[in-house]
Amino acid sequence: MTASPSKSRFKNPRARYNFVGRTCSVTGVGAYVPRRILTNADLEKLVDTTDEWITTRTGIKERRIAADHEHTSDLATEAARRAMQDAGITAEQIDLIIVATITPDMFFPSTACLVQAKLGAHRAAAFDLEAACSGYIYGLEIAQQFIMSRTYDTVLVIGAEKLSTIIDWKDRNTCVLFGDGAGAAILQNRPQSHGLLTAVMGSDGLKADLLCMPGGGSRCPATAQSVAARLHFLQMDGRETYKNAVQAMQTAAREALQRCELAIHQIHCIIPHQANQRIIDAVADRLGAKPEQMFVNVNKYGNTSAASVGIALDEAVRCGRVRRGDLVLLVVFGAGLTWGAAVIEW
Ligand code: UT7
Repeated sequence: MTASPSKSRFKNPRARYNFVGRTCSVTGVGAYVPRRILTNADLEKLVDTTDEWITTRTGIKERRIAADHEHTSDLATEAARRAMQDAGITAEQIDLIIVATITPDMFFPSTACLVQAKLGAHRAAAFDLEAACSGYIYGLEIAQQFIMSRTYDTVLVIGAEKLSTIIDWKDRNTCVLFGDGAGAAILQNRPQSHGLLTAVMGSDGLKADLLCMPGGGSRCPATAQSVAARLHFLQMDGRETYKNAVQAMQTAAREALQRCELAIHQIHCIIPHQANQRIIDAVADRLGAKPEQMFVNVNKYGNTSAASVGIALDEAVRCGRVRRGDLVLLVVFGAGLTWGAAVIEW
């Protein structure tokens, strides 16, 4: 059945029902976080920090740490299983698997291929996507393109990280901030259904050095010296990253809203990248959003990079903060630099 353009409440050409009756709907979400909890009190024993500093500067109280035998593909697979159950689909129905991660199991093959094998999704093509903390929204946008172009009907997007393996546990500037976990979504063509209205993506490679892991790639392969110099750990200029995050997130959010001809007060739930409570508050303030519109769980999981908004979206749906017909705004920022925003009619 072909959907009528008149049924859309949006005039914008990128809004839903504009691609001859196809809609990219989020039909299921799922998340998985490891059992082990690392509290701020635990970190006080590792580095020169305090619960008070971490709480007031970031809002983080605890984060999850994967077990040694639990790899990024395991976290991703569990989140995917939950999303598939939510959507009511089997592995055989999946056409494409996209895994957004900066902590793949290995350089190659892709973590997406490992997830494909674990799920038994034999029909699916699979690849990894690297856009750091922005990866989940990049994944949604790519999935939408494949669905709207009629290439695929069912796409599994996963953001998954085992950041604990690239954290320098001697660096108090970074080790208090991050955690492990995975969030997943099933996107499907559902004519006349609700869906992903728009997604905005952006990047600025001139600021690549602000947040990076210098070692391990072709520029600085692993050597005894590179390990001794701690180049295989994440490094960040926190202050500059903070400033860029606030600016890029508000700009991306504004662009996504503008494309859908929506005002901020029409959005029921805003799910920002969960990096720092102060960044979230600053973005809300600049967008003119009310605190009750913001969904925040950074206190429980810290910054899980590509998994962050996926985990938060899943929680927001499960606890009833996002309900059928609601307008949801996702907004992210990460290394690259990269950023993005997406509007979904749930
Ligand atoms: O996922 C996307 C990318 N990541 C982000 O979005 C993170 C962006 N940045 C931030 O969230 C914040 O910049 C941080 C939370 C990382 C830091 O907060 P800040 O208010 O910008 O602190 P700061 O870097 O200006 O450091 C203030 C002080 C410094 O001491 P001095 O130089 O003023 O004496 C740090 O050495 O706090 C010190 N400090 C700590 N003290 C206790 C840094 N880390 C810690 C710590 N415990 N864990």
